[in-house]
Amino acid sequence: MAIQLEDNQVSRGSFKRRSLIAFFTIASLALIGFQIFSKFPWGPSIIELSKDLCPQGETLRPASFIKDNSSIEFIVKDPQYRAESVKKISGAVKIPTVSFDYNEDPLVNPEQWKNFTKFHWFLESQFPLVYQKLEVTKPNIYGLVFEWKGSDPNLKPLLLIAHQDVVPVAEETLSQWKYPPFEGVSDGKYVWGRGSSDCKALLVAELQSIERLIKDGFEPRRTVVLAFGFDEEIGGKWGASSNSKYLQDKYGENSFFALVDEGGSSISVIDDVAFALPSIGEKGATNLQITLNTPGGHSSVPPDHTNIGIISNLINDIESTPFEPLLTEKNPTLNFVQCVAKYSDEYDDDLKKSIFRATIDKVSNSKVVKFLSSIKGYKYTIRTTQAVDIIHGGVKSNALPEFTSLVLNHRIAVESSLKETIDKIIGNLKEIAIKFDLGLVYKDEEIIQKTQNGYFTLLGGEGLEPSPVSALDNKSWEVFSGTIKHIIEDYVYPNLTTPAVVAGNLGTGNTDTNRYWNLTNNIYRYKFSTLNGILDAHTHSINEHILIDDYIHLIAFTYEYIRNVDAAEDD
Ligand SMILES: *[C@@H]1O[C@H](CO)[C@@H](O)[C@H](O)[C@H]1NC(C)=O
Ligand SMILES: *[C@@H]1O[C@H](CO)[C@@H](O)[C@H](O)[C@H]1NC(C)=O
Ligand SMILES: *[C@@H]1O[C@H](CO)[C@@H](O)[C@H](O)[C@H]1NC(C)=O
Ligand SMILES: *[C@@H]1O[C@H](CO)[C@@H](O)[C@H](O)[C@H]1NC(C)=O
Ligand SMILES: *[C@@H]1O[C@H](CO)[C@@H](O)[C@H](O)[C@H]1NC(C)=O
Ligand SMILES: [Zn+2]
Repeated sequence: MAIQLEDNQVSRGSFKRRSLIAFFTIASLALIGFQIFSKFPWGPSIIELSKDLCPQGETLRPASFIKDNSSIEFIVKDPQYRAESVKKISGAVKIPTVSFDYNEDPLVNPEQWKNFTKFHWFLESQFPLVYQKLEVTKPNIYGLVFEWKGSDPNLKPLLLIAHQDVVPVAEETLSQWKYPPFEGVSDGKYVWGRGSSDCKALLVAELQSIERLIKDGFEPRRTVVLAFGFDEEIGGKWGASSNSKYLQDKYGENSFFALVDEGGSSISVIDDVAFALPSIGEKGATNLQITLNTPGGHSSVPPDHTNIGIISNLINDIESTPFEPLLTEKNPTLNFVQCVAKYSDEYDDDLKKSIFRATIDKVSNSKVVKFLSSIKGYKYTIRTTQAVDIIHGGVKSNALPEFTSLVLNHRIAVESSLKETIDKIIGNLKEIAIKFDLGLVYKDEEIIQKTQNGYFTLLGGEGLEPSPVSALDNKSWEVFSGTIKHIIEDYVYPNLTTPAVVAGNLGTGNTDTNRYWNLTNNIYRYKFSTLNGILDAHTHSINEHILIDDYIHLIAFTYEYIRNVDAAEDD
């Protein structure tokens, strides 16, 4: 509008007068309208809209800290404690507890896992008080469960988990490592090596904080349990699942106050506000295997579409019908953008408004969906993905292919399910089966009868449902997020004047937590850190490392979190 006025060469004077009158008329009508229909034409202000969104609890400092903060000051600032801590994490990295895809059940092949025994010895040598005070159990030989019995058996225990195993280092990349991957070298600022970030820092920090709490004479009311699996990187089916079974048998279902595991995306400072981003939910995952059987023959007399040609049609059909994006209240991504919109100036007012109205009206929702879809890192937080990852077919240049197979990998949106994912692919298969007059078999059921032209089969589809999403409006979250704020505001970014924001977000990968779903509804994936695991700390890749300051803060956080949880009552 303003630009058009400038460009318009109408006589300024009369135009101005007329438009002024028009303006006031419209304005007063609008004002009356606004008073009558308070939502028209501008609706509630941005501040009003966001009032109840992304609520932030209080910064939670334990009473012990308020009375005398010397324990935390010691952890964070004592140079000797820092040196000892570096030695512990570095010692842990030195033991190559690698889990390989080909590893077998430890009951079948314990030999493959023997470095884990060394790792257990190492922990025992480093944490004498933990081993003295806590009950240690080893489910499935290499699992580790530590139980620190609280004085009040009526309180739900706290569960802190991590994993002992690390991913392998490819021989060919060794020369690119700044320091050898299994030496745990410290340069004074960082500790380098495989497993330093994923996940030994968390594991060792949890033990260090408990060792320190015991030294400081703390005796818990609420039982504290640590559980460390040994095969997270290959799915957790022997480690975390045995630990979880042990705990479920002993404590029962829904028996824990909260569960904290690795994950989340560090602490980001946006417009001078520190945002901590724990994951409160994660997508599901599954693989589907599709095969196509057709009659063979000689290549000199081919049909219009060979087996491979038909499979190509199928792939084209699958890829040209991507899963629809969906953004509902259930998706933690919405909470995350609402937090950023509310507490920073990262987005313009129009986008902010849409973000706050995303669950109120469709237009706003689709604006936010469009916005998120335009960012590479967020596009997939609001939809189920489909990736054709493997294909095999054909054997000889003069023989028609009789058999083609492909594997699809899916990460399933939190609002969806394994069933919806499979149904969508069955839809694609049906379409192509009908087009080419083929049969379709899914798990021994003939959905479309086999024909003389051949048939598709669909297998797989087991896998992981999207996780439950942890609530942001209960005691457990209040204690967790409040403790994060305490350490950020008092130690990590004490110079920031605005309070830290803790924003529950969607997890990107899958962790061991899915094995523990039965134990609690309050599951937080968060390793307290200022480095982003994948982008900065090179998790799973060359030159994996941690920042020593982060590591120290992680110990302090866990120490204070245990104290805060201990002081809290169950909901
Ligand atoms: C076990 O550790 C040793 C070094 O202590 C290493 O050479 C070996 O490759 C490790 N074994 C496995 C299976 O990772
Ligand atoms: C710790 O306590 C001292 C006084 O005993 C105080 O000066 C300091 O600000 C406190 N530190 C924090 C982070 O609260
Ligand atoms: C606060 O300190 C951090 C790290 O020491 C620094 O990166 C940041 O720029 C500082 N912020 C302000 C507002 O001074
Ligand atoms: C969770 O509990 C249900 C019902 O008791 C049980 O069927 C299921 O196997 C349990 N899941 C795990 C991972 O233990
Ligand atoms: C938190 O809220 C969830 C869902 O409302 C509930 O199931 C869970 O038990 C609550 N946690 C605590 C500690 O009360
Ligand atoms: Zn990990």
